[in-house]
Amino acid sequence: MSEALRLEGVRVVRGGRTVLDVSSLRVGIGERIALTGPVGSGKSTLLLAAAGLVDLAAGQVLLFGDLFHAGRAPGLLALRRRLALVAQEPCLFSTTVRGNLAAGLTYRGISRQERDRRCDAWLPRLGLEDLAGRSASQLSGGERRLVALARALVLEPELLLLDEPTTHLDRALLPRVETLLADALPPTTTVLMATHDAAQAVRLAGRVLSLEDGRLEA
Ligand SMILES: Nc1ncnc2c1ncn2[C@@H]1O[C@H](COP(=O)(O)OP(=O)(O)OP(=O)(O)O)[C@@H](O)[C@H]1O
Ligand SMILES: [Mg+2]
Repeated sequence: MSEALRLEGVRVVRGGRTVLDVSSLRVGIGERIALTGPVGSGKSTLLLAAAGLVDLAAGQVLLFGDLFHAGRAPGLLALRRRLALVAQEPCLFSTTVRGNLAAGLTYRGISRQERDRRCDAWLPRLGLEDLAGRSASQLSGGERRLVALARALVLEPELLLLDEPTTHLDRALLPRVETLLADALPPTTTVLMATHDAAQAVRLAGRVLSLEDGRLEA
């Protein structure tokens, strides 16, 4: 199995306490994995570690077989651009909804034509076409979450890290987003998603992992 992500002996210490202690996690390319566990069990920390956004007290993270970690070492940027993270409390850029989607594509040097093509494709998939010109500061909490998700999806990343992507979405939107995650991504896209919704984990994931006090349960 080719690996998208691998954590070996990863330990994260916060506030003097070990909050993540993963001896081994291997995620194959194209796998869809749900990460469950009680509040404070380390789901978000694991996703941040996978995204190279926290310092590790021990261990290593490999992304597509290459060593990956927090920092600015040469080569890290190219590796980082193969993934996208939707944080649990996402911050949007101070621009329009469409501007939020376009920003990451601009940073990656993607042509204007391709930027427009991808925004035109993804805005309606998330039902955001009518909000495209609206300032991000004038969105509801649920709308902000949809934009954060769209901003990640438009990058068409090889590894998608989602931290409770459907929290605060209503009954009408939940199936739309779940269908999108199930059907609109290429089969080679790897997804690691934290969720409190056990039924959703079963619906969307081929494998469900459970964290307890920072450790993966067997
Ligand atoms: N900046 C921080 N400083 C100290 N402790 C932290 C910090 N951030 C998180 N923690 C602690 O790390 C542990 C894991 O937090 P994490 O956010 O990963 O949990 P989680 O499983 O995502 O929880 P939730 O279901 O509430 O989102 C918790 O005990 C939390 O209190
Ligand atoms: Mg969390």
